[in-house]
Amino acid sequence: MQIIRQSGPLQDALQDIRQEKSTVGLVPTMGALHTGHMRLVETAMARCDAVVVSIFVNPTQFGEGEDLDAYPRQEAADAALLESAGVDLLWAPTVDQVYPDGFATNVSVSGVSTGLCGGSRPGHFDGVATIVAKLFNQVRPDAAFFGEKDYQQLAVINRMARDLDFTHEIIGVPTVRDADGLALSSRNAYLTPEQRGQAIALPDTMRYVAEAIAKGGDIAAILDDAKAKLLTSGFHKVDYIELRNADTLENMTIFDGPARLLAAAHIGSTRLIDNIAVA
Ligand code: PAJ
Repeated sequence: MQIIRQSGPLQDALQDIRQEKSTVGLVPTMGALHTGHMRLVETAMARCDAVVVSIFVNPTQFGEGEDLDAYPRQEAADAALLESAGVDLLWAPTVDQVYPDGFATNVSVSGVSTGLCGGSRPGHFDGVATIVAKLFNQVRPDAAFFGEKDYQQLAVINRMARDLDFTHEIIGVPTVRDADGLALSSRNAYLTPEQRGQAIALPDTMRYVAEAIAKGGDIAAILDDAKAKLLTSGFHKVDYIELRNADTLENMTIFDGPARLLAAAHIGSTRLIDNIAVA
């Protein structure tokens, strides 16, 4: 597996790959790889002839006071995992390769980026859309793979790809969870053993809410109750727990079609997110 950090050599390597292999899959990540990321890689390997994984802890999607400096960085271990999975190329650019002096462009997607994480993390999805647009242009893949774990992010990227004429496929991959139901996340590494035990209140509560809503219960009352449950289970702040239209992410007050329940809550200094289908 080649590890490349500069734009020129990336283009040379992609040209070589394309001479031998007809389809290229891209899996963008910020590293600290776990089984959830590797599921994306496996899905890409199954659907494409060659796979490029990017690792870049993108400063522009972190807000002030967020965990940019503390974000786990373990590139050697990540590279070993990707190599053994059969990945062709690891694109791990330096910050100045991605944001050279004078960089002045921002990709901003309205609508689907409003509220939820867009509400509690202002500017976050501009940072995500900008870096993902750049990665699409740098790699020009035939398909790109993203986790449903970050459901709003997936919706933002789908919207951006349609609006800006990125014609390659965007593939959403279902969330990979630990045996007890907690969604795998690089941020789970911040949890103390006690907090890790308490954190399952998030998926547990979401499952109960999804069932109660599907049975026709009062949505506002169920969501209020769920918020209170999280706050007595070890979470000290709930950014949101909301029912949204599964496609448009518009708020849903009546359950009358494909819906998604999405939540974000803080435990200690860690912010966890999760989402599930309501059907
Ligand atoms: P990161 O958090 O590293 O996640 C990389 C990809 O892995 C995302 O598409 C995310 O949804 C997916 N992923 C994470 N945990 C998962 C899980 N438990 N199951 C399935 N997929 C999972 O998301 C980002 O990086 C960044 O915002 C990025 C898109 C790379 C732009 O900087």
